[in-house]
Amino acid sequence: MAERPYTVLSASMSIDGFLDDASERRLVLSNEADLDRVDAVRASCDAILVGAATVRNDNPRLLVRSQARRASRVAAGLSPNPIKVTMTATGKLDPDASFFACGESEKLVYTSRCRVEDARLALGHVATVVDGGDPVEPRRISEDLRARGVRRLMVEGGGTTLTQFLAHDLADELQLVVAPFFVGDARGVRVVGDGPFPWNPERRGTLLDVERIDDLVLLRYALSERCPRG
Ligand SMILES: NC(=O)c1ccc[n+]([C@@H]2O[C@H](COP(=O)([O-])OP(=O)(O)OC[C@H]3O[C@@H](n4cnc5c(N)ncnc54)[C@H](OP(=O)(O)O)[C@@H]3O)[C@@H](O)[C@H]2O)c1
Repeated sequence: MAERPYTVLSASMSIDGFLDDASERRLVLSNEADLDRVDAVRASCDAILVGAATVRNDNPRLLVRSQARRASRVAAGLSPNPIKVTMTATGKLDPDASFFACGESEKLVYTSRCRVEDARLALGHVATVVDGGDPVEPRRISEDLRARGVRRLMVEGGGTTLTQFLAHDLADELQLVVAPFFVGDARGVRVVGDGPFPWNPERRGTLLDVERIDDLVLLRYALSERCPRG
């Protein structure tokens, strides 16, 4: 099997397991201290991946916010911001989205083989469009990223994307933040959908750490042997 990057899944959810509610507005789950923690994780990674629905719904910039962290990356010979990565079956992404428009780092769009040509026409001036397989396979993306020099990958959601990385056993660590409220509406986006997850009652993950961040709780789970303990 080809190598893949060390992969950290990161998400914030409500007590009842939602990443987002059904409203147009972005659901605020995090707080300043946690955003700063997430910023540090971003700065420690070579690439950040989100699903296309997150690019469309949240219009995230996916940049390292702290000037000091960007400077440390540059001092280490890296670009100020990690590579941005998304996956899409349809290729329907706006080239003016912040994902493409913000920051100097490389942007990679993995799409299905039959969409590559159209996607290159629409997005080729703002991103590198890569054949992700037919249909797009998360393992192929992961291995291709490693071949492009990505040693450490952060997957920031949404639920469909987290589900795929978990179900294909492509994750080494899960950093899950729980916010102290309920969404209580099945039209919201769940942290994961259904899937043949490799961690189940017969094969439990390992709880590495529990940290209180003001009114949030951060749970860190080791999901592979590669995840450092202690
Ligand atoms: N709380 C948090 O930590 C957090 C973090 C991130 C996002 N979110 C929320 O999560 C929501 C979005 O989550 P989501 O589950 O709807 O979507 P998502 O995971 O962000 O994106 C799903 C989309 O990614 C593409 N995709 C996923 N797997 C693919 C595969 N194997 N092959 C090809 N394309 C694939 C498809 O794009 P196409 O439709 O283009 O084909 C699919 O519709 C947003 O509302 C956002 O606010 C929350």
